[in-house]
Amino acid sequence: MVGASRRRGISTTAIHEGEEDGTDIIQPIYQTAIFKHPEGRMIRGRELKYSREDNPTVHLLEEKMAALEGGEDCLAFSSGMAAISTLFLSMVSKGDVVLTSKEIYGATLILFRSLEKFGIKVKTALNGNVARSIDENTKLVFVESITNPTLRVPDFPELIKVCKDHGATLVVDNTFATPINFRPLESGADYVIESATKYLGGHNDVIAGVLVGPKRGIDAAWEWRRNLGGSLDPFAAYLVIRGLKTLKLRVEDQNRKAQTIAERLEGHNKVKRVHYPGLKSSDYFRVATKLMRGFGGVISFEVGDGRKALRLLSSVDLIKTAPSLGGAETLITHPVSSSHKNISPVERKELGIKDGLLRLSVGLEETEDIIEDLENGLRKI
Ligand SMILES: Cc1ncc(COP(=O)(O)O)c(C=O)c1O
Repeated sequence: MVGASRRRGISTTAIHEGEEDGTDIIQPIYQTAIFKHPEGRMIRGRELKYSREDNPTVHLLEEKMAALEGGEDCLAFSSGMAAISTLFLSMVSKGDVVLTSKEIYGATLILFRSLEKFGIKVKTALNGNVARSIDENTKLVFVESITNPTLRVPDFPELIKVCKDHGATLVVDNTFATPINFRPLESGADYVIESATKYLGGHNDVIAGVLVGPKRGIDAAWEWRRNLGGSLDPFAAYLVIRGLKTLKLRVEDQNRKAQTIAERLEGHNKVKRVHYPGLKSSDYFRVATKLMRGFGGVISFEVGDGRKALRLLSSVDLIKTAPSLGGAETLITHPVSSSHKNISPVERKELGIKDGLLRLSVGLEETEDIIEDLENGLRKI
């Protein structure tokens, strides 16, 4: 029994939070669309009747994630993008000004820009310029805690202060860090979203998203989730719940492996530059060390030019070429020909995405096997 005064540790929370104290050790999956109504059960003070609104399995995931991120409440969604789009739509109105870092997931940036057709003013800035672009007209500010693909970390203490000074709401996409490495709400952010498809699920077998924040905002987003329809399926929720139970083990292991691999790549004569906030050579080492408990499982590195990068991609064997990150399998991508293909060369240059850049999501295989595969690939370029 854990004393009421002591906060439970993160794995204990991931495993036990929200679980019913009955005879089941593993909670059943409520694979149902409907519930007997009106004399049924309540979730968040609302009668349970239809799984697009609420579902006990989905709610178990929501309780765990609210506790893990340290927020008042959580909603789970059918994808990370459903979480982001539902939050945006629930928060912004015609005439509002929103500000986003340009250094975010491509689909999020496209979604932001598409809000302009509804009369919302969308401003964008590089991470380093976000804080100074905030003014009293800024309603919402959006950043990622570790950016894709160059692994930059915003200066959160400064950002949070400026947001508070101007009454702007700060939303942080914490997908790359996870609550194991960083908890934005504890630092003063207002909302956290995560693609649960990545580390939370952790096995590359489910698409899901979560939103954590204050109760009032979550209630508003609940209405929008119901009406937009981006609710999470109970079986998908179960897969994320199962993933959460090993989240700390996996993320800490991936932190360690990524650190070793980043250091080895940094010393390799075919590698021009390595981007990883855990490296002393990183411009983000200082801020990341101050804020984060670990630096994550994603590394990016430069190998001269695009031809060499593609050659490496086709030369690795254990490491697979596929989008996404955070699973058990080590994956590699070439951003210029995949995630950032539709971004102009000028904008790519501004974002620091070179033709020879590769992104590696370190999985759970043995470190030496991953390194051996990379070294074999590097030998061929
Ligand atoms: C940082 C980040 N945020 C959000 C998303 C969107 O998540 P999903 O694919 O689950 O919709 C992704 C997907 O790659 C991502 O990398």
